[in-house]
Amino acid sequence: MQNFTYQNPTRLVFGRGQIAKLAKLIPADAKLMVTFGGGSVRRNGVYDQVKAALEGRDYIEFWGIEPNPRVETLRKAIEQGKASGINYLLAVGGGSVIDGTKLISAAIASDIDAWDLVLKGSDRGGIPLAAVLTIPATGSEMNSGAVISREETHEKFPFYGRYPEFSILDPEVTYSLPDYQIACGLSDIFVHVMEQYLTTPDQSRVMDRWAEGILQTVIEIAPMIRANKTDYRTMSDFMFSATMALNGYIAQGVTEDWATHMIGHELTALTGMTHGASLAIVLPATMSVLREQKRDKILQYGARVWGIDGGSLDSRIEQIISRTREFFHSLGLAVTLTEAGVGAEVIDTIAERFNRTGVHHGEAANVDGEMTRKILTECL
Ligand code: NZQ
Ligand code: ZN
Repeated sequence: MQNFTYQNPTRLVFGRGQIAKLAKLIPADAKLMVTFGGGSVRRNGVYDQVKAALEGRDYIEFWGIEPNPRVETLRKAIEQGKASGINYLLAVGGGSVIDGTKLISAAIASDIDAWDLVLKGSDRGGIPLAAVLTIPATGSEMNSGAVISREETHEKFPFYGRYPEFSILDPEVTYSLPDYQIACGLSDIFVHVMEQYLTTPDQSRVMDRWAEGILQTVIEIAPMIRANKTDYRTMSDFMFSATMALNGYIAQGVTEDWATHMIGHELTALTGMTHGASLAIVLPATMSVLREQKRDKILQYGARVWGIDGGSLDSRIEQIISRTREFFHSLGLAVTLTEAGVGAEVIDTIAERFNRTGVHHGEAANVDGEMTRKILTECL
């Protein structure tokens, strides 16, 4: 295991009826702004619960943070927050609302333009924020990451801000999720684990088994959710798997990858594809192109997660990659660019962008523009 220091400051408040605790969790003297997405919370009762919990409090609302939150929208919240002297933020929504709120937090406390903050990569000096999570997927409720888009240039980059002070996770709020968002959420959780697991072998037994446990859970609950998305126990596992997959815990002491994510963000930036959908296409192709480098870990994953442990090593790897593609297919997601209706022209654009910026993604820092071209060609 590599050396590490781990501290996650977010307080998790999990379970039915927990939104009512908001009043106690947010400091009484906070000058509060509550941020929302496009309105799903008005339809599923979450907004009413938040309003009831905040009765008598002084706060303003900001609506309209879109999926893949855009800096152009966030600037409006930042301006409003600065003008109103806001010193505490509550995000009510999914990864997009929470991510967007992390940038709002940093920019309210800073004189730097919001997009320049994104390009800077991190700023921990923002005002406090907290979250009521409505969709299990990103782990944003318990990490400091945010991924921000710029509509004007079709760019999408990660940014690191503050961790939420607390996050409320009530599995009942997920009952209203559309099937497609559930599929994308499951895909995102699965790939988060893979990015922190499918790397160097023999680093940590305990982290490997945490990772495999989350993968097995996601595989087990996916058909159960399809059959019934209002089962509390199943949706609880869905919600907690998402948090555990990207709250930093399973990354401790082990090598991480994230090449699939970086390529996926480009697909989203250029085509608008939903985040989890982009990963379902890119991950199997990354496994295929990097099969030599990832060989031992692919074999371990195949044996422990899918029970594939017979036959020649090469045929086993082939089967394991196919099984992974079938899993994404079983969620109802496309596993090729063609199936997703995306043309081959994105390949050049992304490879050229990566060549121009000189990035080297991935655990071995070898996913540059040309390697990305190979991976995306495999996605066709
Ligand atoms: O906007 P509203 O009307 O609320 O609708 C949302 C949105 O259309 C809807 N939704 C959310 N909860 C719902 C619901 N509909 C019905 N019932 C509910 N309970 O779902 C749609 C998608 O929401 P969004 O927040 O975009 O989804 P997600 O949580 O998957 O977030 C995706 C964003 O997070 C980034 C992605 O790149 C993408 O921009 N990520 C953030 C990460 C992080 N902070 O660590 C890591 C991830 O890898 C990811 O990159
Ligand atoms: Zn993700």
